[in-house]
Amino acid sequence: MTKRFNLNATAIFSTAVLGSALLIAGCSGDNDEAKTAQESAAEQSAMAVKQPAPVEAPKATMQPEPSPASKAMAEVKETAADVKEEVQETAAAVKEEVQEQVAAVKEEVSEMVSSSPSGEKAYATCVGCHGANGEGGVGPRLNNQSAAEVVAKLEKYKAGEQMGPMTGMMAPMAAGLSTDDMKSIAEYVTALK
Ligand code: HEC
Repeated sequence: MTKRFNLNATAIFSTAVLGSALLIAGCSGDNDEAKTAQESAAEQSAMAVKQPAPVEAPKATMQPEPSPASKAMAEVKETAADVKEEVQETAAAVKEEVQEQVAAVKEEVSEMVSSSPSGEKAYATCVGCHGANGEGGVGPRLNNQSAAEVVAKLEKYKAGEQMGPMTGMMAPMAAGLSTDDMKSIAEYVTALK
């Protein structure tokens, strides 16, 4: 009889221990399931009361870096830099355009100066042998050739190349000519017909 009672007592005791252990585990753990809905609601409202919204407000004013004024200043600086860059680019483009136009005018002027008049003047020394219009005489006809051909032949005479049988007569005439002289003479004489 006593043995049976003991058994029952042990069974009851162990059941009680197990039950309370489960209860403790349920309450002490992070698991919220153990809490009743009422408890959770109460806790949440308590948290809400304990943490009022304006707690973070002073934090923002205590950090000076991203203040709206400095942000606006940075934006203004950036815009100013952009405008400066644009102005510099435009100025550079205008300068380039003006330089191009000046170069074009210079070229035109130098062409006007170096063409016909000086070519005509220089050809005067050739007229005796090649004709007033380059039609030929003692020397071959020149006005039926291209300016480039005439220049190329003059360069060869100047370089001392043996050309035709009368190279000895022509070579000294080419010796004193610069390439520019040859070009202006050639342009002049090949334009005559
Ligand atoms: C004294 C006469 C004489 C004078 C001045 C003279 N030449 Fe000639 N020229 C010749 C003769 C001759 C030849 C052909 C030479 C040869 O046989 O290679 C010739 C050849 C040339 C040729 C090559 C023509 C060809 O189709 O083969 C050219 C170009 C030329 N002369 C240009 C000139 C020019 C430019 C001048 C003036 C700066 C000039 N000559 C002055 C006599 C002359």
